[in-house]
Amino acid sequence: MSNSSSNVVVPGRRDTGGGSQATPWWKSGVVYQIYPRSFQDSNADGVGDLPGILTRLDYLSDLGVDAIWISPFYPSPMKDFGYDVADYTGVDPLFGTLADFDRLLAAFHGRGLKVIVDWVPNHTSDEHPWFKASRSSRTDPRRDFYVWREGRAGGAPPNNWLSTFGGPAWTLDPPTGQYYLHSFLPEQPDLNWRNPEVRRAMMDTLRFWLDRGVDGFRIDVAHRVMKDPEFRDNPPNVGQGQLHKQLGDFDSQLHLYDSNHRDVHEVYRQIRRLLDAYGSKEPRVAVGEIHIFDLPELMAFYGEEEDELHLPFNFTLLKAPWNAAAVRRTVDAMEAALPKEAWPNWVLGNHDESRVASRLGEEAARAAMLLLLTLRGTPTLYYGDEIGMRDVPVTPEQVMDPWEKRVPGLNLGRDPERSPMPWDSSAHAGFTPPTAHPWLPMAADARERNVAAELRDSGSMLSLTKALLRLRCRHPALHLGSYRPVASAPTEVFAYLREQNEDRVLVALNFAAHPVTLALPEPARALLAGTHAGVRLATKEEIALRAHEGVVIELAR
Ligand code: GLC
Repeated sequence: MSNSSSNVVVPGRRDTGGGSQATPWWKSGVVYQIYPRSFQDSNADGVGDLPGILTRLDYLSDLGVDAIWISPFYPSPMKDFGYDVADYTGVDPLFGTLADFDRLLAAFHGRGLKVIVDWVPNHTSDEHPWFKASRSSRTDPRRDFYVWREGRAGGAPPNNWLSTFGGPAWTLDPPTGQYYLHSFLPEQPDLNWRNPEVRRAMMDTLRFWLDRGVDGFRIDVAHRVMKDPEFRDNPPNVGQGQLHKQLGDFDSQLHLYDSNHRDVHEVYRQIRRLLDAYGSKEPRVAVGEIHIFDLPELMAFYGEEEDELHLPFNFTLLKAPWNAAAVRRTVDAMEAALPKEAWPNWVLGNHDESRVASRLGEEAARAAMLLLLTLRGTPTLYYGDEIGMRDVPVTPEQVMDPWEKRVPGLNLGRDPERSPMPWDSSAHAGFTPPTAHPWLPMAADARERNVAAELRDSGSMLSLTKALLRLRCRHPALHLGSYRPVASAPTEVFAYLREQNEDRVLVALNFAAHPVTLALPEPARALLAGTHAGVRLATKEEIALRAHEGVVIELAR
């Protein structure tokens, strides 16, 4: 049996409900992350904005994603590019207006696309009116909105906790003589979630966006919201860091006391109750950014009664060495650890991580896309990965990211993965007008490697991504079905079956840089998609995979 060339599959349905009736959209759908500064500028200031995103609705709808998650666009001094929020219920003028947001939401909903907004509960900006009041005096009613402590003898900070972005997590505020806690920048003071008034005020900010009609929230550093009430010192860490990458001094401690206190779960139960109350017709989703690699600890965020987050982000693929055995182990471990009704999710990139195509190389990035879009669970796709964007290096003078500025030279800066989206071959690749200056450098090859060029090329990463998204949408096995690894696959190959009733699909990925032949566990019916052009099924019983090649095969029913 032979089959036609790569990438091209039968056009998919556009399922405006985002899933079959009984299945909520956030399970069957694919989420696309937009970093708003870098997606599309509409007013020639070199920074992307909400009206810019709206002008790309056709693109996103045609791409075939089901939801967008927009990184913060709230009023902010932009010390951490919006993750320092000065008003949870507005839009920063840099990004537009609340009316622009409402227009965007209505237009996306009109196309059957969901909109998830970012919510940053761990900290505010130091320019938030709550913090301004809080720091104004020890007796201000807002004092306890934040975490204030006396220094230790000799003027040392209250304990040894460190800021993720370098240096101590405490800053002395001389006017009132106490230290305040900041897990990130000093300009990002941590809220005191043990104060019921903080909880109430923050719940109101969720209501504000739910009332406007948003479909869910991506919750920033969800695991860090609750800390040890006794503020004990963290113990030293002698081994490797606990995360998927080395974070410098931050790795010198075990983060036992400054993160993931068990009381955090009550916060998410409360949030879930709120979302459920709003979601009687269309479910609203809670996605959590949780940098925890201990699986039972991560699974706890689904809730003991599965009454917390719908999708605690699963970053385990970022940590896995890129070979068949390690990736399979990672997937199998996640599948085994999941609570009974919990739904998995997968992430390969975001605004904090080096681009997939830079980490793995161009060819392997195609296979990685095939993996992401065919595993069981909701994929989150970072803008630009669909065209194979790579990290765009910045010179020391061009550095924007506060992390790189505070901890230079350790490769922690996140500017390279935030480079503006290249749309076409015009100057600045259509991101911003020729007269404007993009806030971060565009890729050197942006005028050649861009959306327009890739749309014309049936072998491009974009064509592959679109084909996979359509395939995923058409096949219940892919967006809903079970997962079963193929034990007999050669060591270079990760192969798995996805099955939903009559619909049965086999995915096979060759991680090696040489060809491998895979004996199919069952006879093939048709080749549905592949990373390489001109792929053929030699027989119904086996397939020859080229280096880094991935395929999706329909099995006989
Ligand atoms: C999260 C965000 C990151 C931000 C940090 C502090 O990790 O993804 O971009 O800098 O939280 O808010």
